[in-house]
Amino acid sequence: MKNLGILLSGRGSNFVAIADSIAAGAIPNARIAVVISNRPDAPGLETARQRGLNAIAIPSKGKPRAEHDREVVAALLDNKVDLVCLAGYMRLLSPWFVQQFRARILNIHPSLLPSFPGLEAQQQAFAYGAKVSGCTVHFVDEELDHGAIIVQKTVPVLDSDDEPTLAARILQQEHIAYTEAINIVLEGKFNLVGRRVVKGQRSEVRLQK
Ligand code: GAR
Repeated sequence: MKNLGILLSGRGSNFVAIADSIAAGAIPNARIAVVISNRPDAPGLETARQRGLNAIAIPSKGKPRAEHDREVVAALLDNKVDLVCLAGYMRLLSPWFVQQFRARILNIHPSLLPSFPGLEAQQQAFAYGAKVSGCTVHFVDEELDHGAIIVQKTVPVLDSDDEPTLAARILQQEHIAYTEAINIVLEGKFNLVGRRVVKGQRSEVRLQK
């Protein structure tokens, strides 16, 4: 049984999608060991509590990044987390944090990386006039929205779209993509070839436990 640790800052729909996939057996042999938010008022935290999950706030406001990251890593270790899933966690992880969970932190981003990293990626793609956008689940490394790509889903940008309709269609694909990516990583049936995550064989960077 693998322990997932979810980090979020807001609504938490990606967290709910992961929790639903686990409940439905679509992510086998995994459980959510802890849900952590840097924002005590994050709706996703309340949802986690309602679902009977271990949900804790570790406020980041006014705290040096190194101190906050130490607290979050301690909570993840306390809960024996194997895989960290960033689900709308709107904070950059320090290099030290990344090193504690090397190749064991995933992030979801609402664009086809490397296009439109950073904040409000859906709006960036819309304003740029992209005809196709989508979402990316990737390993987290020391650089923002940068690590090796595990799953991408494309979404057409329609002439009739506005920013909210595009963001909503991307979000539907995010929920599908995250479950796929978690399964690829937990099964360990991939190899890292440079930046390329190649499915099919067991990996040298697979989860150790
Ligand atoms: C999602 O669209 C996610 O891709 C994005 O925040 C939203 C969180 O929604 N993450 C980023 O932009 C990270 N750079 P949710 O709280 O409903 O899962």
